[in-house]
Amino acid sequence: MAGRLEGKVAIITGGTSGIGLGAVDLFLREGAEVVCGDLQDHKGEAMAKAYGAGFSYCRTDVSQEADVKALVDHAVGKFGKLDVMFNNAGLVGVTGDLDAIDMNGFDETVGVLLKGVFLGYKYATPQMKKQKSGSIISTASVAGLQAGMAPHVYSVCKAGVRHLARVASVELAPYNIRSNAICPGGISTSIFGGLAGMGTQVADQFAVFLKSRLAKIQPIARAGLPNDIAETALFLASDASTFITGQAITVDGGLTAGPPTNLMQLLDLENAIAEFQAQMPS
Ligand SMILES: NC(=O)c1ccc[n+]([C@@H]2O[C@H](COP(=O)([O-])OP(=O)(O)OC[C@H]3O[C@@H](n4cnc5c(N)ncnc54)[C@H](O)[C@@H]3O)[C@@H](O)[C@H]2O)c1
Repeated sequence: MAGRLEGKVAIITGGTSGIGLGAVDLFLREGAEVVCGDLQDHKGEAMAKAYGAGFSYCRTDVSQEADVKALVDHAVGKFGKLDVMFNNAGLVGVTGDLDAIDMNGFDETVGVLLKGVFLGYKYATPQMKKQKSGSIISTASVAGLQAGMAPHVYSVCKAGVRHLARVASVELAPYNIRSNAICPGGISTSIFGGLAGMGTQVADQFAVFLKSRLAKIQPIARAGLPNDIAETALFLASDASTFITGQAITVDGGLTAGPPTNLMQLLDLENAIAEFQAQMPS
């Protein structure tokens, strides 16, 4: 089925790589006009050549208010309106134990992961209010649902993104603007290589290398792929989801469905009963 976004204009941040790139590709195939905001100019410019007239790249640092305003202005100037804002750009950011976190790193991480998403709302909503319609989608994470999935600052920002989708939905519903988040599990992208300071090309190769490991972390025994998240974003962007707002949809192959190890096996109940009975006075 094609054409599910026919006539719609979408902004996708972080669209030159991974999940964002998957979404750019899928949204274009479904008939949308797409503006990609990212920092990787060489990739964005190559995409503009490959995709042609329905695509536009706009250099954007999502942590900078003026850049996000310019991104929305660019989309509306070029394609005349804005139907979908996919706040997706991200990075792992600052790492470390609570007492060792560098506060400049904290500010930079929050700047991209939380402020960047907030700015997407701030500048997309005036245009969407004028149009009396729109869909805002943000990439949160399973790390915003549970502990132990990612570094602290990343995880807290992702919990914030998830909650922002919910609180914003109430304010925006009267304008027919929907607000939702997606919580991906382990997805094979270059984000992991970025954590080790790899350049983008090597990080892309590392994403492929990681697939066999990512296949082992959740019940569905394959790595999550950018297209898994792009398809969910497509659903939320399209008219198939016009009664869905304020939600966070988890797309994780069952990672958060339960503990990774069967607790009954860990308890080893059969042996425990035998041991217990053996030590009881007869
Ligand atoms: N890969 C996973 O396992 C996973 C899991 C949960 C959530 N996520 C989230 O998915 C989103 C996309 O990440 P990905 O996995 O596709 O990684 P990725 O590294 O492949 O893509 C991230 C993109 O964001 C861009 N970006 C980073 N900082 C930016 C900034 N300040 N301004 C504009 N663009 C910026 C990068 O240039 C890159 O193109 C992120 O928000 C990430 O936190 C990823």
